[in-house]
Amino acid sequence: MTGKTSSRLPGFHRLDLGRRREEIESRLAPGGLGEGLSDGLADAMVENAVGVFGVPLGVATNFTVNGEDVLVPMAIEEPSVIAAASNAARMVRGGGGFRASADPPHTVVQIEVLEPGPDAAQRVLEHREAIVDAANATQPELVALGGGVVDVIAREAVGSARRLVVHLVVDCIDAMGANMVNTMAEEVSGMVAAAAGGREGLRILTNLADRRLARAMCEVPFDALARDGFEGCGVAGAVEAAALFAAEDPYRAATHNKGIFNGVDAVLLACGNDWRAVEAGGHAWAARNGSYGSLTTWRVEGEVLRGEIEMPMAVGVVGGAAKIHPTARACIRLAGIESGVDLARLAVCAGLATNLAALAALGSEGIQRGHMRLHERKG
Ligand code: MEV
Repeated sequence: MTGKTSSRLPGFHRLDLGRRREEIESRLAPGGLGEGLSDGLADAMVENAVGVFGVPLGVATNFTVNGEDVLVPMAIEEPSVIAAASNAARMVRGGGGFRASADPPHTVVQIEVLEPGPDAAQRVLEHREAIVDAANATQPELVALGGGVVDVIAREAVGSARRLVVHLVVDCIDAMGANMVNTMAEEVSGMVAAAAGGREGLRILTNLADRRLARAMCEVPFDALARDGFEGCGVAGAVEAAALFAAEDPYRAATHNKGIFNGVDAVLLACGNDWRAVEAGGHAWAARNGSYGSLTTWRVEGEVLRGEIEMPMAVGVVGGAAKIHPTARACIRLAGIESGVDLARLAVCAGLATNLAALAALGSEGIQRGHMRLHERKG
């Protein structure tokens, strides 16, 4: 990410929409935020298109990620979320901002083989080189950029003894990669089934992208958490207690994680990404230990509240809507995002921010006061 601009925009929220837009467009290259999605593009993107559906686009301020300021584009219909993200980012800024990282962009596609013969896994792996070559041959551009299959894994007796599941692990560089890996799987599925002595089953990527995790952490000083009538250390303790509640109760965890996805999804939608894939992966990850839990942890450590998030984040900047939607392109530029890894890091920071804002409010004055203020403004 290239932090060429300050994310502190004092008074930004008090401007009218036109002035805010001017302010943001002054930071973008010519073309600005553009006119949005045309009917023609919509028609090319989906079937039976009849128009374009608008969603508010805003910019969250105050974010610092890995030492660089970043303006965070968020597309979302829910009031309070962008304000909450900006407020939380201001608190986090007091402790040095977010630190974020992401795994290499490895997407996994599954090839199911039904009724495999004896020693099927071993026999598939004996054909590893041919499988990799055939899969890579479908994606010459990806391979030319240094991507392609990096591993073949055979999982025996998945669910029942009559199923072998082969995973191709594919380096997708800056793409989310769904189309590429699904094409690869369909190409080699027959070869895999023949090697395994069984029948072809499903061929489709897994959204449980556990080789493509992104993570972020922050340390919030107590004084940054103080608010009307509530001392910072009390709010910090309340956030820690709320995180424990989510870790121990799936009913609470679902809502807690929804607050995280408020931030994650809004960034992904603004940047033209498949937020549904990330939701699916996030919820599956949250249940990986057998019961559904929280995607974040919050702990009081000395004089700071330390927060962490880790979750699958299969996102990209070179395919699909991220490539062709003019507003998504502008949002990606606005945030200084140059790679899928950059976007993954920013999305988890936004999720950690909206989670902090929600827990700090719930653990002090409650969320309705802020929510209702915004609703009244709109009414
Ligand atoms: C509302 O969109 C999100 C919250 O319910 C999240 C939470 O409860 O942690 C406030």
